[in-house]
Amino acid sequence: MKEVEITANPMLIQPGRQGACLDDFSDRAASEVISFHQSLSGYEPTPLINLTALSRSLSLGQIWLKDESKRFGLNAFKVLGGSYAMGRLLAEKIGRSLSDLGFAGLSTDEAKAKVGTLTFVTATDGNHGRGVAWTAQKLGHKAVVFMPKGSAQIRADNIRATGAQCHITDLNYDDAVRLADSKARENGWIMVQDTAWEGYRDIPRWIMQGYMTLAQEIADQLAARRQPAPTHVFLQAGVGSFAGAVLGRLTKAWGPQAPKAIIVEPHLANCHYRSFSAGDGNPKIVGGLMETIMAGLACGEPSTLSWPVLRDYSIAAVSCADHIAANGMRLLGAPKEGDEQVVSGESGAVCAGLLEYLTSTGAGKEMAGSLGLGKDSRVLLISTEGDTSPEMYRRVVWYGQHPDLERKLENA
Ligand SMILES: Cc1ncc(COP(=O)(O)O)c(C=O)c1O
Repeated sequence: MKEVEITANPMLIQPGRQGACLDDFSDRAASEVISFHQSLSGYEPTPLINLTALSRSLSLGQIWLKDESKRFGLNAFKVLGGSYAMGRLLAEKIGRSLSDLGFAGLSTDEAKAKVGTLTFVTATDGNHGRGVAWTAQKLGHKAVVFMPKGSAQIRADNIRATGAQCHITDLNYDDAVRLADSKARENGWIMVQDTAWEGYRDIPRWIMQGYMTLAQEIADQLAARRQPAPTHVFLQAGVGSFAGAVLGRLTKAWGPQAPKAIIVEPHLANCHYRSFSAGDGNPKIVGGLMETIMAGLACGEPSTLSWPVLRDYSIAAVSCADHIAANGMRLLGAPKEGDEQVVSGESGAVCAGLLEYLTSTGAGKEMAGSLGLGKDSRVLLISTEGDTSPEMYRRVVWYGQHPDLERKLENA
């Protein structure tokens, strides 16, 4: 494959045709979710940064970047989903609404007497599992976490630091999910997975709803600065729950003004790109170990819940080589004068790297034209994680691992 491949979405809904239902992302649902997160101690909206110098140098109108490395001190956005889903689940067991209980109400003596001590189980590249383990610890429950082969030790250590059990398996992400599910059945544990499949929908739906907090914060932050909606949003995808949730909420919040959404994946885990390319409306699956530096995006099976949203409302999918993510890490870490520095990890930075590619290379500029990206565009990027593996971050940013060899030749 070339370093970047793009496919327009042939299934994008056309005027007059009804798209996937977005009721899960309504104003009411979003305000319930954000109130829940506000009830957690340490809640603060993450920064929405205006990268003025970068937008000027890439000949774009504006670049907004939401920095999720600042989320609850956990260095990634994922806890928004796990915490909300665990809250909903516990509220059901307690027999009261989550809005009444808030986070504190989930672990009172009365609540404990009703639910006892539970064990939550999940599979993760790191960020989701850390969020589940952190929430379990705060609420006085237990967590067991399974990770795919090749997972960074530091990510497992961060999970264990919350008191959870954590195992790095020999499996790829999707098989680690199946393992976690079978362990849940065997042991009577509760599976909290950030992807849906036939017969498993409530928890992943709540997880997606939990991610709405960051999308709603963006809408509120732009409104507070009297800024119009972005024209384009780039959304990185693993199983697609994050992209589906953000796109669902932004579409609900902004209606016809919602930005054009582009889904971004690594070459070796490009299941959405392949699904768009096939164009028959059905999600396609990628197998194998999916070795990419973008650990959070190394998922080969689209979630059955987010797929209809992405299929109907995003305009294109892009598949990227690892050095595109590495370039994104470097350019956000060493900003142009006047712009704020952002420490962005491998999965967090790929969209920034892609934007630079699209606006600065010959092949990229053709693709940018097909996306309607130009000097009047207002682009939204979400850096979904910070340096969740500091060693990998330094290898890329300090020592130049995953260099852009093509670009070196171009500029020589
Ligand atoms: C940092 C980061 N960004 C993006 C994603 C993609 O989320 P999803 O799997 O919901 O597509 C993940 C998933 O783990 C992640 O860890």
